[in-house]
Amino acid sequence: MFSTQYHHHSLSRRRFLIYSGLGVVALGVNACGGSNVPATPLPASTAVAAPITAASTVTAPAQDAALTFSLTARATEMPILPGAATRVLSYAAAVEAGDPAAVSAVPGSYLGPIVRVERGATVTARLRNELDTPTNVHWHGLIVPAEADGQPANVVAPGAEADYTFTVNNRPGTYWFHPHPHGHTAEQAYRGLAGLVIVSDPEETALGLPAGAQDIPLVLQDRKFDADNQFVFIAGGMAGMMDQMMGVLGDRILVNGQPDVVLPVATQPYRLRLLNGSNARIFKLGWSTGAPLTVLATDGGLLAAPATVPYVMLAPGERIELWADFGPAAVGDEIKLVSLAYEGVEAGGMGMMMGEPPLPNGAAFDVMTFAVTEPAQSTLTLPAALLPVAALVVGEAVNATSPRPFIFAMGDAMNWTINGRTYEMDVVADDERVRFGDVEVWEFSNEMAAPAAAGAMAGMDHSAHAQHGATPAGDNSMRDFMAHPVHVHGVQFQVVSREVDDAQRAAWETVKDGLVDQGWKDTVLVMPGERVRVVTRFDGYRGLYLIHCHNLEHEDGGMMRHFEVE
Ligand code: C2O
Ligand code: CU
Ligand code: CU
Repeated sequence: MFSTQYHHHSLSRRRFLIYSGLGVVALGVNACGGSNVPATPLPASTAVAAPITAASTVTAPAQDAALTFSLTARATEMPILPGAATRVLSYAAAVEAGDPAAVSAVPGSYLGPIVRVERGATVTARLRNELDTPTNVHWHGLIVPAEADGQPANVVAPGAEADYTFTVNNRPGTYWFHPHPHGHTAEQAYRGLAGLVIVSDPEETALGLPAGAQDIPLVLQDRKFDADNQFVFIAGGMAGMMDQMMGVLGDRILVNGQPDVVLPVATQPYRLRLLNGSNARIFKLGWSTGAPLTVLATDGGLLAAPATVPYVMLAPGERIELWADFGPAAVGDEIKLVSLAYEGVEAGGMGMMMGEPPLPNGAAFDVMTFAVTEPAQSTLTLPAALLPVAALVVGEAVNATSPRPFIFAMGDAMNWTINGRTYEMDVVADDERVRFGDVEVWEFSNEMAAPAAAGAMAGMDHSAHAQHGATPAGDNSMRDFMAHPVHVHGVQFQVVSREVDDAQRAAWETVKDGLVDQGWKDTVLVMPGERVRVVTRFDGYRGLYLIHCHNLEHEDGGMMRHFEVE
């Protein structure tokens, strides 16, 4: 699968860090020094990803097991860059009842914990809020009762505690959790609060996919640092206004909370579980070798069969699992996971006035390096079939020919809206009610900035670039081409179709082959000018749930609404 195009290194030193109390093993190498080729030493700041091998993947807890763990949200410090440690927010976790190996920390990272559960298990997470602001925990992708869903109306005051109890009903796959207090989700997640829930079941285990040290969660995030190594969330001035409006983009790429990650691998297959835990960064993931990617799972777990794509678009909130076979590589090779260039997501109006971020969406950059350091210790073959995915039939929908519309756009007040409305904590409009058990088709339309908003921006008086006068309707020059990763709570859905406006088609062509719409999804990237139809059955729980953009600044800015299953 991989061709050799990297220098060979001789392995000079290897570190094994054993976190025995956590059931976690982190393996690291520092490789350098070639014999007859110019050496490419790894930079001094090279960090080692903290892959996570929980014993529970090997000795799976019995189905219907119960797990209770504490989750303490608090401020702490982590060394991330050379020099001063970075002030972060982080969850500390401890198992109170159940398999102690089910909850593992990510050593040396603000991220985590990683919770591994079997389908059918009952989980209680006991949140302790040691922050000085309200917080809560949302179980992204897991279908849980509304009162355990961690919604903005249910927050935990500083110093207080709350239990979240639910049964794990989801298919085997990679889910995650993060805070959801309205107006503060973006900052709390950016400063470090996020963890993973990995669901398994006996059918999945029987597939014999890479497990243990070959099953590697990788959380991708971008961050901005100041000169003292501190996270910059939303800066002051015009740059800050732009971040607030468009979403915070960092120029440092972190994997499991570390920069410049080099992960040692053997010449064998791995299962990589990727989460985009960024606020606004959209990755176009590919291999540095140009090899295609083999996809095992999307948001809602394993696909019916592996899918091969040239690259994968991964928007905030989305997960993708890859089969990465380093078998064809040689010891000494380095293979990079990269983000490739793409077009179509850019700040036009606000951006033109306020300047481009240092690493805009669509720029190309390296994500991490896989250093092939040893020969295979086992061989596995990619299964031809994974787990069944029952297709939802659009014809069964109560609104098969008239999808329920959700229009994602910038409103006249330069606010982010869904169907012209912003988030209201206590309100469900009549057109936001669905019947329990119904199958419905929903259509998410990305209508970009309203011309009126663009005109308002052009009339803003802040910079020389703003001297455009009124922007005629239909003139795209002052529009902001924002993508909206649309996330729905309380369900998993299936993507039915995508359509794109002719004006945006050329840009969309640069991403379309990486929109992996197979299997079950809970977050779907809706590109500028795009209309995406999805179908779902509302048979989880009754109650209030949320639909929102997972660009966290858009979400905090109001691009979120309730819907009620009744
Ligand atoms: Cu991951 Cu409502 O969010
Ligand atoms: Cu969610
Ligand atoms: Cu958005």
